[in-house]
Amino acid sequence: MKLLSLATALLATLTTAHPVFDDLITPSTPLDHKRAPAASLRHISNFGSNPSNAKMYIYVPDNLAASPPIIVAIHYCTGTAQAYYTNSPYARLADQKGFIVIYPESPYSGTCWDVSSHATLTHNGGGNSNSIANMVEYTLKTYNGDATKVFVTGSSSGAMMTNVMAATYPALFAAGIVYSGVPAGCFYSQAGGTNAWNSSCANGQVHGTPQVWAKVVRDMYPGYDGARPKMEIYHGSADTTLNANNYNETIKQWAGVFGFDYQKPDTTQDNVPQGGYTTYTWGEGKLVGVYARGVGHSVPIRGSDDMKFFGL
Ligand SMILES: *[C@@H]1O[C@H](CO)[C@@H](O)[C@H](O)[C@H]1NC(C)=O
Ligand SMILES: *[C@@H]1O[C@H](CO)[C@@H](O)[C@H](O)[C@H]1NC(C)=O
Repeated sequence: MKLLSLATALLATLTTAHPVFDDLITPSTPLDHKRAPAASLRHISNFGSNPSNAKMYIYVPDNLAASPPIIVAIHYCTGTAQAYYTNSPYARLADQKGFIVIYPESPYSGTCWDVSSHATLTHNGGGNSNSIANMVEYTLKTYNGDATKVFVTGSSSGAMMTNVMAATYPALFAAGIVYSGVPAGCFYSQAGGTNAWNSSCANGQVHGTPQVWAKVVRDMYPGYDGARPKMEIYHGSADTTLNANNYNETIKQWAGVFGFDYQKPDTTQDNVPQGGYTTYTWGEGKLVGVYARGVGHSVPIRGSDDMKFFGL
């Protein structure tokens, strides 16, 4: 099966030799009864309306901020909440900075996200995006979260979903960081498939003008006229899973939304943040593109740079 071999390839590139753990909800046994048990990844079953059956996991650090910021960290195909918790830096950063991390988990076999159905590509449409937005609302309410500091990020399928969340719930998020994804709407399934693979998008054959891509975003939440999250887009030029053209199309999409000229970034910095990468900025950092020359799928997460972009 094509999807399966692709999923295997994704797993191979995205995870190191970590086993996938089943036993997610057992709290660690405190060694000393006077000491509070260390924070751990927890499953939340009743976070509110969950029309698409996405699963919610949460990491609440022991040194929680009074009004904590929230990061939604979204896994790749074949990934799980536990795998992304283990293999991404956000929980460790939460320990330092006191924010909460929500790790949504895909309900589908193969654990790609639904970024293809009309439902998920629509504000309050009942798809995965709707379920993830409800996880955020639950967390804001339950933990007195800071509604001005809610962020979204993800890798690969989770990066696709990051663009979809930014497009469908622009008022919920202050910023998004996309590690090797595709533009919001690029995985659209004409046949109405849920969590469908779109080969023409993956292979880099979908091209749009900034105006067309911006309309795709606006049509996901018709009538919305408020603020939109600032966006940072990472992509490897040698990506053979999601062709690097998706970098260019995603930049066009958000440049179109914000009204920037994608061909004229304000700044271009070669070898930033590291050798071979080039960083482009538009609108004083409202849109940042990081093109990683020679890097495949997926670009490694840069935790401390993410904190800077989020202002944490
Ligand atoms: C893939 O997505 C594009 C839009 O990005 C769409 O035009 C095309 O019809 C989709 N392919 C399928 C098979 O649905
Ligand atoms: C995509 O963007 C990168 C970085 O700006 C550029 O080097 C590359 O030529 C672009 N590719 C296309 C097909 O426009």
